[in-house]
Amino acid sequence: MKISVIGCGYLGAVHAASMVQLGHDVVGVDVDERRVGLLNRARAPFYEPGFEDLLGTSLASGRLRFSADVADAAGSAVHFVCVGTPQKRGEYAADLRYVQAAVESLLSVLAPGELVAGKSTVPVGTAARLAELVEGKVPGALLAWNPEFLREGFAVQDTLHPDRLVYGLPAGPDGERARALLDEVYAPIVAAGTPQVVTDHATAEMVKTAANSFLATKISFINAMAELCEATGADVTQLADAIGHDDRIGRKFLNAGLGFGGGCLPKDIRAFMARAGELGADQALTFLREVDAINMRRRIRMVDLAREVCDGSLLGKRVAVLGAAFKPDSDDIRDSPALNVAAQLQLQGAVVRVTDPAALANSRAEWPHLDFADTPEEAAERADAVLLLTEWQQYRDLDPVAFGEVVARKRVLDGRNALDREAWTAAGWSYRALGRRAG
Ligand code: UDX
Repeated sequence: MKISVIGCGYLGAVHAASMVQLGHDVVGVDVDERRVGLLNRARAPFYEPGFEDLLGTSLASGRLRFSADVADAAGSAVHFVCVGTPQKRGEYAADLRYVQAAVESLLSVLAPGELVAGKSTVPVGTAARLAELVEGKVPGALLAWNPEFLREGFAVQDTLHPDRLVYGLPAGPDGERARALLDEVYAPIVAAGTPQVVTDHATAEMVKTAANSFLATKISFINAMAELCEATGADVTQLADAIGHDDRIGRKFLNAGLGFGGGCLPKDIRAFMARAGELGADQALTFLREVDAINMRRRIRMVDLAREVCDGSLLGKRVAVLGAAFKPDSDDIRDSPALNVAAQLQLQGAVVRVTDPAALANSRAEWPHLDFADTPEEAAERADAVLLLTEWQQYRDLDPVAFGEVVARKRVLDGRNALDREAWTAAGWSYRALGRRAG
C-alpha cells in the first residue's frame, strides 16, 4: 500500500519506518527540513534503541522517503497523522494547532476513498470534528482514530508488536471501508492474532487518555505509599513486591521513586482534566489532580532529602546528578523529573553537575545554566552527595567501591530505588532512597 505519515517525531518517524517493514511504500512528511534531511540520510534525530537500524534497512529497500512537502503524500491510500499535542502554555488543555494544521494541509492532496488515520493523542471529540471537516471538503474521504501506545525506549518493538490495535471508526459503510484499509495496513499484525478493539471515534480517543491516566495513577499510588513508608519506617519496594504478587494488581508500574515525567503522562492527564471540565464532567477526574500533586511532591521530597544528607544546607555543596532524561533509554528531557530536581538544587545554592549517557546535548541546549559532565566519575568528583535520578543500566552497574574513590563523601540518594542497597552500604556509602529506611 502507499502510505503517508504526517509528522516525523518519535511517533511518526518510527511509525513510517515500521510500515515499510510491514511491506508498504511510505512517505514521511515533516515541516522541519533539518529533520527531513537527517531522516533521509538514515540518521535518527533522537535517541531510540533499534530505530536507526530500522531506518537504515527501510530506506535501503527504496520504499521509504521523507519530504517537507505535503504534496508528496498525494495518492496514498492511508494518511497517518502523528504530530504532537503539547500542553498549552498557561493552561491544562492540549494544543491542537499541529493536528489541525496537519489535517488542513492534507485536504489539498486527499482523494475520495482515502483514509486519514489520526494517531496523535487528542481530547475526546476532536476526531468527530475533524471528520466533518474532511468529509465536507473531500466527499468520500474517510477519517478514523487509531491511537498509538508506544513507549519511548521500546518504540520499535511496541509499533511492530503492539498489545492491541484500536480503531475508532465512523458509523455505517464508511466505517467498514476504513476498517478494511486499516486491516490491510496492519495485515501481519492482525494475522499474528493481536487483539483488536473496533469502536467509535470518541471511545478510541478516550482509550489512550484513560490508559495513560491509569498508568499515572498506578505510579502515584505507589508514591503515596512511599510517603507513608517514610512516615512509618516501612519499605515501599517490599510493599510493591508483595501487593504486585496479586495478579489483579500486578507489579508493573509500581516502581516508587521520583515519579513520572516525559512528553505524555503529565500533559495527558492535564488535558484529560481540562476536557472533562469542558464536558461538565470535571468531578469524574478530580482524582487526577491528586495524582499530579503526589507526583510533583516527590521532586520536592528529593530536594529535601538531599539537603538533609548534606547536613541541613545545600549552600556550596557539590552534588552529582546521575541522569537527565525523563527515563532510561531515551534522550527525551521533556518534563524530566531529574532536571527539575537538579535545577531546584542549584537554585538553593548547591554546585550541581549532571551527567547522562544520551540526553546531554538536549540538556545543554535547554538548560544552559546547569553544569554537565560526560561521565558519572567526572560528575561525582569531590561530591558531597550523589543522586541517582534516572535509572540507566550503566548507573545500576556502577561499582560502589571504585566510585567511592572519586567522591568527597560517600552519600548516595537513590531516586529510583534502582541500586543494590547492600552492595553500596557494604562499600561504606550511606544510602537513602524515597520510601525506604536509611541504609
Ligand atoms: C507513556 C505510556 O507508557 C505509553 O503507552 C504512551 O504511548 C506514551 O506515554 P512513555 O512516556 O514513553 O510512555 O514512558 P513510560 O515508560 O510510560 O514512563 C513514564 C514515566 O513514568 C517515566 O518518567 C518513568 O520513569 C516513570 N515511571 C514508570 C515510574 O516512575 N515508575 C514506574 O513504575 C514506571
